[in-house]
Amino acid sequence: MNITRQYDVVVIGSGAAGSTVALALAGHAKIAVISKTDLAEGSTRYAQGGIAAVLDATDSVESHCNDTLRAGAGLCDEDAVRFTVENSRSAIDWLVDQGVPFTRQQENVQATSAPIHGSNESHTQSENNYHLTREGGHSSRRIIHAKDATGQAVSTTLLGNLGAHPSIETLEDHVAIDLIVERDLPKPVCTGVHVLDCSTQQVITLHARFVVLATGGASKVYLYTSNPDGASGDGIAMAWRAGCRVANMEFNQFHPTCLYHPQAKSFLISEAVRGEGGKLLLSNGHQFMPDFDARAELAPRDIVARAIDHEMKRLGSDCVYIDISHRDSDFIIDHFPTIYQRCLDLGIDMTREPIPVVPAAHYTCGGIMVDDRGSTDIENLYAIGETSFTGLHGANRMASNSLLECVVYAQASANDILGKLTSTQWLTAPPYWDESQVTDSDEDVIISHNWDELRRFMWNYVGIVRSNKRLARAQHRVKLLRSEIAEYYSHYRVTNDLIELRNLAQVAELIIESAIRRKESRGLHFTIDHPKTDAHGHNTVLFPPNYHD
Ligand code: FAD
Ligand code: SIN
Repeated sequence: MNITRQYDVVVIGSGAAGSTVALALAGHAKIAVISKTDLAEGSTRYAQGGIAAVLDATDSVESHCNDTLRAGAGLCDEDAVRFTVENSRSAIDWLVDQGVPFTRQQENVQATSAPIHGSNESHTQSENNYHLTREGGHSSRRIIHAKDATGQAVSTTLLGNLGAHPSIETLEDHVAIDLIVERDLPKPVCTGVHVLDCSTQQVITLHARFVVLATGGASKVYLYTSNPDGASGDGIAMAWRAGCRVANMEFNQFHPTCLYHPQAKSFLISEAVRGEGGKLLLSNGHQFMPDFDARAELAPRDIVARAIDHEMKRLGSDCVYIDISHRDSDFIIDHFPTIYQRCLDLGIDMTREPIPVVPAAHYTCGGIMVDDRGSTDIENLYAIGETSFTGLHGANRMASNSLLECVVYAQASANDILGKLTSTQWLTAPPYWDESQVTDSDEDVIISHNWDELRRFMWNYVGIVRSNKRLARAQHRVKLLRSEIAEYYSHYRVTNDLIELRNLAQVAELIIESAIRRKESRGLHFTIDHPKTDAHGHNTVLFPPNYHD
């Protein structure tokens, strides 16, 4: 049975970006928010450190902009940086108004305070004294947080509000497969999306006036990652196939400190641990970061991750260590309750001993090219959050600028959509999904083998340190895999695993192609064949075969 549903706006993704755009449009339009698993699943939920914003009287927009530009290694778009930072305070005020329980100063002694005047009048000045922590690249304390589980607090609050709104319908376990684009017009227009309803295994059609991609990043393309399973770059792959340009895909960020333990799947040790004095040590106790950068542990992530990688390879060691045990144990437990408990469950008491850590893929700096309203190359199609490329992060994202970007650009997109709601016509209902040529697969093992192979060669050949030879090898492999997957895709019914694998392989190809094109080392892209940084930076912009100017 073919099913078509109509919404003014379909938002694909329920993380910080998707929830924000939906809440900003609530009451003005009929909205569907879809998520491929639980609404709460996605990188947002796991965010630890916090959200960067200019909140302290001693801080300034200028300073936040300069730190972002410096971390971005000469590739940030200055307008995007200024736009984001100038809107940082109102973004935090909005989150406070939504009810996000940020940690207040009195809950964390030993740090500076930040009075915030949100529009919630019931907050007194003293109640609004938020604690600000510090992370790599930031020249002052400017990270507002909810202990060490900021993402959980943001996600729970926004999803609670979303669920309560009558004009928003939420569809869990619905996987977007491909965008539907009407091309028989002066400019291609997005008219909806085909979605796999995992509860019925049926593909349904969502017909919309506006579609917003808020699908998160693609770090699952690497074998070791801090990201949850769904971070398979679906939005980037869908937008590329639909005809959107993508940019700077070579800049995948590796977080320096993920917990190294056989039972600790993807658990992050927040950069705030370094911000509050954590030192990086070798197994002999040597604090090595000052050997690499004057900012030591508070250097931007690309520098710290590369230093760790260098030391691990030099010594043949499995990990390095982060040690904050010199700080008062009450402070550690109060400030990092989630990390403390997780480590303790695994037999590591961070108040008394160092934590073993390794770098892991963490954040996709590149993505779908958008303007300052989140608009893509296709009419009525928006992209926000980690899936997008706004130019904010340049060659290396500064810590805690991502959640900020999610909120700022989600609100900009919502404003743009609001301005167009009355004037945008419904286009003809898009076509149904055609399943007439496919059958159920009897060889699912191919999918899991290909997943594994892809993620392994991406880690080995397209990781923290690259070379021409490694990239050529990866390119050869990904081409073979992509043709195998395309063949499989054309014969069998889609499943979530197949959709993700197809997208991962597409995104891997874009990352490799971008890395091959960059003949220099800059920020997160380091290659032994071109170790120097060019005098003038440029973005790597890839044009899809069906790009329409
Ligand atoms: P996500 O939160 O990843 O949400 C993606 C959504 O899209 C999900 O709902 C998913 O189900 C849905 N989706 C994806 N594909 C499909 C599909 N095909 N069909 C339907 N739905 C789909 N940043 C900071 O600024 N501060 C931090 O402290 C911080 N800490 C972090 C800690 C960890 C462990 C991680 C992994 C990241 C951290 N980041 C942090 C980065 C930040 O959390 C993410 O960049 C941000 O949350 C991304 O939000 P998003 O809304 O773009 O996507
Ligand atoms: C962290 O807490 O270290 C993550 C912060 C970020 O990715 O911005």
